[in-house]
Amino acid sequence: MKSITRLEFLIGSAAATAGCKMFNFSSEGDSYSAAVLGDTHYDADPISVYHSHYDNSNPWAKIQNAEFVRNANMWKDRCPKLLNASASLAHREKTDFILQLGDIIQGDCDHVPTHRKMLDDCIKYLRGPYPEALPFLTVVGNHDFRGKGAWDAYFDFAEPFMTKEVAKLTGKSNSKLLKYPAFSFRKGPDLWVFCHFEMEDLNPISDLIDADIQARYVFLVTHGPFTTCSRSGAYRWRLGGNKKSDASRVRLYETLSRRKAIVLSGHTHMTNYYRHENKFGSFCEFTANSVWAKQERATLVSVDDDPSDYKALKGRFTDEQFKDFEEDVAFFKRGLVEYFSNYGAGHYRLDVSNAGVRMKFYPGDALDSPRVFLLA
Ligand SMILES: [Fe+2]
Repeated sequence: MKSITRLEFLIGSAAATAGCKMFNFSSEGDSYSAAVLGDTHYDADPISVYHSHYDNSNPWAKIQNAEFVRNANMWKDRCPKLLNASASLAHREKTDFILQLGDIIQGDCDHVPTHRKMLDDCIKYLRGPYPEALPFLTVVGNHDFRGKGAWDAYFDFAEPFMTKEVAKLTGKSNSKLLKYPAFSFRKGPDLWVFCHFEMEDLNPISDLIDADIQARYVFLVTHGPFTTCSRSGAYRWRLGGNKKSDASRVRLYETLSRRKAIVLSGHTHMTNYYRHENKFGSFCEFTANSVWAKQERATLVSVDDDPSDYKALKGRFTDEQFKDFEEDVAFFKRGLVEYFSNYGAGHYRLDVSNAGVRMKFYPGDALDSPRVFLLA
């Protein structure tokens, strides 16, 4: 594991300071900011609060019970601090909305009323410390519909909720319900697309982007990343990871590149940044993580910080699996020009203006950002 140098830290701090002065927020609507949270896996102690109906005959019960314990511990102390830090910045600095990148809850209730209660409690709790009435946007993650009856419980909640919150954000009431697997809206001059990352045919995403050629910036919000995570054993569990997605993945890669799009994702429990350049143009992806499972995860220490570090790692893969992994990584490696990866958890702020788009990373419950990523 590489440790960040003093010089890197100073560059990051200087960039943050310069960025504050450089960005001009005078044009209302064209300049906006969001408090960003990665996966949160909201849960509670004792485990019986949300998991008293949990079916322990589930073949994944051992792993999932360990996750319940992890969540209960982190939501007792560290995650409330992280949330309060994000909210205090939202009180201090102009903030237009909260963006959460999926797996907002742990799920695994195996009981519809409890699953719904977990979602309601979670939204109320997460929203609590922020300025009142801030729109709260969240994208579907795999945990959000995990458990018996949870699929309908989640989507029956999430689609009307997002329709209402997007209306608050844009100031335009939607006559139609926003529906997964993909939907879009304009925030000022920018196109925002939200998708269900397990969708097999990615063409609806490309179609939504192609239908709005005037947008200043294009944001794609997906829980599972589009870029293969080279440090994940479940490297195909992402947007476009299914082999049935191969053709539409190529189209989306080109579409994102032509539009210099910004992909925002979660799922890997890492903080990752990728910039891709190719004959079509360029796009970047930022993966956020708010699963502050251990104190030491409040870190900026990178495990990878150069495109040459992006490679498939053998791990416990069979030769056949590893060949597939290498091919999948090669798809993105060919155009990778910037890369940062760490196991850090924290909160983030997204600033959007004519001058560019930047993402500030605040490890743990930090109130100062030691690292700013320029996304556009
Ligand atoms: Fe996930």
